[in-house]
Amino acid sequence: MKKTLKVLSILILFVLIIILAGGTYVSLALPDTGNATSITIERTSQRLKRGEYLANHVAACMDCHSSRDWSLYSGPMKPGTLGIGGEIFDENAGMPGQIYSANITPHALGNWTDGEILRAITTGVNKDGKALFPLMGYSRFGKMDKEDVYSIIAYIRSLKPIKNQVPETKLNFPVNIINKTLPTPASFQPLPNEKDTVKYGGYLVNAAGCVDCHSKREKGNIVAGSEFGGGMEFKQPSGTLVSPNITMDKQNGIGNWTKEAFVKRFKLYADSAYKPQQLAKNELNTPMPWTMYAGMNINDIEAIYAYLKSLKPLQNKVEVIANKN
Ligand code: HEC
Ligand code: HEC
Repeated sequence: MKKTLKVLSILILFVLIIILAGGTYVSLALPDTGNATSITIERTSQRLKRGEYLANHVAACMDCHSSRDWSLYSGPMKPGTLGIGGEIFDENAGMPGQIYSANITPHALGNWTDGEILRAITTGVNKDGKALFPLMGYSRFGKMDKEDVYSIIAYIRSLKPIKNQVPETKLNFPVNIINKTLPTPASFQPLPNEKDTVKYGGYLVNAAGCVDCHSKREKGNIVAGSEFGGGMEFKQPSGTLVSPNITMDKQNGIGNWTKEAFVKRFKLYADSAYKPQQLAKNELNTPMPWTMYAGMNINDIEAIYAYLKSLKPLQNKVEVIANKN
């Protein structure tokens, strides 16, 4: 009996040491996605143009990194706030803590090297070695063409510097620990040929993060098999909005939308006659950045349609307005 107890206590001690060592490793050694590379990204006019396009209309960096006017439909950007950061994503939005989008104007990133910005955007580790919360879609951006990311960096370097002190992100336990294990090295993919419409559309869909909103989520993770079938909930003061199914299922998805109707819906908000709509009291707003995507080239919107068409239709039925308080 005594012997068993002794073996048992040694075993418990052993397990404790392993847990402690594991915890120390995660909190001290992670994240580790390698050193920032020493690159210099030349700000050519071609890169500035491409970067502006991607950051504002496809990867929609400016969607999260600017101030938005949520009293208007789709929360268009407040003028003069490009890259200023400070948008909060907290428990009200189903997030595990208080997450603030960073100031990414040269006021904040002025003393970062190009390599440090590249590492942050594509692997999720910032200049101070801190793991970024994956709401910042670094794993998606790490699958873009490196040249496209270079263009985005050239562009954000050219933004007007704006002084705006953003509070530090605070994650709840245990997400604060798990978060450190998430950053991974980038695996850049070449930009597909535009003629390969489906593949090219898939590239844009990855950069835009459509799947992040148009899938079911449990504890922050996308439920496998629910991709593009909708179901993510967006809680708002006056009710909950649920993202629709955007697979080509005829009953429950957008299977009855023609390519022309799809393009038209996106371009609606780019029409010079379109005025941002003031929301009625208690009307739910949409988190879908329509006003930003509206600046996408028709060719690119058509490729996105072709990609969605190539996916397996899901029958998931979604009531977009789940409940009104
Ligand atoms: C869905 C919202 C969202 C989108 C889209 C987004 N970001 Fe972020 N980004 C964030 C949040 C939130 C943080 C802060 C994360 C944290 O504090 O852990 C962040 C952090 C960063 C940082 C690190 C800054 C610092 O001081 O640590 C950089 C650089 C950055 N984003 C650039 C970009 C670029 C470039 C794009 C587009 C390619 C982009 N972001 C798209 C939400 C977003
Ligand atoms: C920030 C979350 C978010 C992102 C990112 C997002 N969507 Fe949406 N989307 C929504 C929500 C919520 C709705 C429902 C409300 C509305 O119609 O605006 C919606 C509506 C739609 C609709 C209308 C469907 C219908 O049945 O009326 C289409 C089509 C669509 N999204 C396609 C896309 C595509 C393609 C992308 C990527 C390029 C994308 N969305 C990115 C949240 C998002």
